[in-house]
Amino acid sequence: MVRMLSKPKLKSSEVEVQFPTLLMTRKYQEVDALNAALGELVTKLEKEAKNVADETTNIGGFHSDSKLMNRPEPEILMLREMIGVAVKEYIDRYFKDNCAEPPKDLKIRMWGWGINMREGDGNSQHVHPDAKISGVYYPVIPSGQLGGSKAKPGGAIMFSDPRPRAHMNPVQNQITEIVVPPEPGMMILFPSYYEHAVIPFRGPGVRTCIAFNAHF
Ligand SMILES: [Fe+2]
Repeated sequence: MVRMLSKPKLKSSEVEVQFPTLLMTRKYQEVDALNAALGELVTKLEKEAKNVADETTNIGGFHSDSKLMNRPEPEILMLREMIGVAVKEYIDRYFKDNCAEPPKDLKIRMWGWGINMREGDGNSQHVHPDAKISGVYYPVIPSGQLGGSKAKPGGAIMFSDPRPRAHMNPVQNQITEIVVPPEPGMMILFPSYYEHAVIPFRGPGVRTCIAFNAHF
């Protein structure tokens, strides 16, 4: 005897994003004077202070110590305030997407450092193991074509898929890297575990950035 089967009707189907990786991009305007002051400060430090680039993942260039945010210059105070607001907004969203409940009694500690890069300088793939949230503000970026390729332009920051086994059986055209070309007045924030690198650029000029960490 043949059993008669009725065709199942779909009751529900949902797709959700799980374990998201949050990249925040902020763009500021009316920052010409701030950016000039920050660029001059990092270049002054390059002449006067110790270069710790060799102790980091940076390839060439100048890397200040990690006490930049403790300095008294008005441009640093202003940048600290901007970063503070950005970190607060970022962690609100981060907790919403990553925590069963928001953590209580947060004491956020922040620190940062300045980097100057010139033609050929870069930064190999790395994470920031001593922090929870990291970010970077770009006061000075050389203009024009900076070499590299269309997909990986010179001077861009490049993030790699942080999911441990996501490359196991890649499908055709799978996105494994996300490239963000910087521009003056731009700030990005990301989880400190998110692997990233800086693609070396070609051409004249200085690429100045101020990187920061937040831990709590
Ligand atoms: Fe970094």
